[in-house]
Amino acid sequence: MKIAIIASVIVGLSFAASAADPDVSKLPPPSAKKDLTYDKDIKSIFEKNCIKCHGPEKQKGKYRIDSLDAVIKGGESKEAAVVAGKSEKSPLVHYLGYIVEEMEMPPKDKEGKSRKLSDEDIGLVRAWVDQGAK
Ligand code: HEC
Repeated sequence: MKIAIIASVIVGLSFAASAADPDVSKLPPPSAKKDLTYDKDIKSIFEKNCIKCHGPEKQKGKYRIDSLDAVIKGGESKEAAVVAGKSEKSPLVHYLGYIVEEMEMPPKDKEGKSRKLSDEDIGLVRAWVDQGAK
């Protein structure tokens, strides 16, 4: 009887963990490029794909991508969007990789079609975060 209870608790916990932890194995690998910086390598990707919702005009989720500090800090969630040095733990990377349901960035279009960035661009963002998000 005790064993059955313990077993169901373990099963329950592992379900809870799988719902909370995005499956980072689905992320594209980090780029091999070195010395990445926000201004030089990442800003242009975000200005093209994110600024209309996260810039001077609109700040969806109270999040902006037009300064490095703001990119790292995050928005409404009050959770840091970037964990410097750890792309697999950074919510921003999870959202770009479309592994958090309802938080795909850029969001899917009205027909539900993916607007996910290329693996190459996501890999660059990952490498930039892994290198310390400078
Ligand atoms: C069409 C508008 C739109 C575009 C384009 C868009 N986003 Fe978002 N973003 C949203 C909305 C809406 C939310 C708030 C979602 C929520 O909290 O449910 C959000 C929230 C976020 C958050 C969470 C902020 C927080 O801490 O709560 C991050 C990080 C983010 N977006 C990053 C990006 C990035 C990076 C891009 C470009 C690759 C991008 N978004 C493109 C609409 C957009």
